[in-house]
Amino acid sequence: MSEQQNASVVGSKSFTAVAINCAAKAGEWIKTKLGNYASLDIKYSSHDLVTEVDKGSEKLIRSLVLTHFPTHSFLGEEGVEPGPEASVQALADVREAEYLWIVDPIDGTTNFVHGFPFFCVSIALAYKGEVIVGVVYDPMKDELFVAEKGKGAYVHGKRMQVSGEETLRGSLVATGFPADHHYALPMNLKGVAAIAPQVRNLRVAGSAALHMAYVAAGRLSGFWEIGLNSWDLAAGALLIAESGGVVTDTSGEPYHLGVRNVVASNGKLQDELIGALAKAGAIG
Ligand code: IPD
Ligand code: CA
Ligand code: CA
Repeated sequence: MSEQQNASVVGSKSFTAVAINCAAKAGEWIKTKLGNYASLDIKYSSHDLVTEVDKGSEKLIRSLVLTHFPTHSFLGEEGVEPGPEASVQALADVREAEYLWIVDPIDGTTNFVHGFPFFCVSIALAYKGEVIVGVVYDPMKDELFVAEKGKGAYVHGKRMQVSGEETLRGSLVATGFPADHHYALPMNLKGVAAIAPQVRNLRVAGSAALHMAYVAAGRLSGFWEIGLNSWDLAAGALLIAESGGVVTDTSGEPYHLGVRNVVASNGKLQDELIGALAKAGAIG
């Protein structure tokens, strides 16, 4: 048994069981707060929102994780100053940790605030910089997406498999409209203008982590976005890899925790999607 496998069960609680428990508990609580949050604050820009529910969800997850694994490191969105520079620095500060939990307590806060039922809790565990557990939970649909490195990815207990489309023309692709309107949004809009006419259709539903989970489940053929953070992507990247798909940066380099400009797909579309973004000058 490897060092990492040996350490993955502590006091009979596996890393994955803790991740699932955290996501389920936080998700259930978030659901009770839909249409019922008390405070809405602006973070980096008027497009970047946070509520007490985001903060409470992260607190709950953090304390559960650290109760089980007190020596592990923890990177959660709400523990980091707003804005791209602070996010990059926060990851750099903990990236070398042996065990690092990477958490987005609500991915899709704008949707949560407006009562648009498309948001999730995203929890990943990295071992020496490599994601080994990824859990995305959508409390509105009660859908739990779970992946363990080398053991596949599952939703509703059923193994996931990416879709089979071979070209952009027959594909359903998603992207996002980032909160950073200085750099990431204009870059992504260039991509939207280039990709929308080439695909069957485009979806922009407001949760990067859930879009990634949908690529893993074969519900979307691909996804890209400029200017994301480690907590948006870490869990979804493992879900896709374990479902037979491919995740890279917009230059085609393999996914790692520092990737901010992401392209994810069933694998068959990866080169065409990256090529189309590059041609449009939209790779960031
Ligand atoms: C956002 C969502 C959104 C994406 C933004 C993210 P948040 O995360 O994933 O879909 O377009 O770039 O910041 O702020 O809701 O956690
Ligand atoms: Ca997010
Ligand atoms: Ca968030």
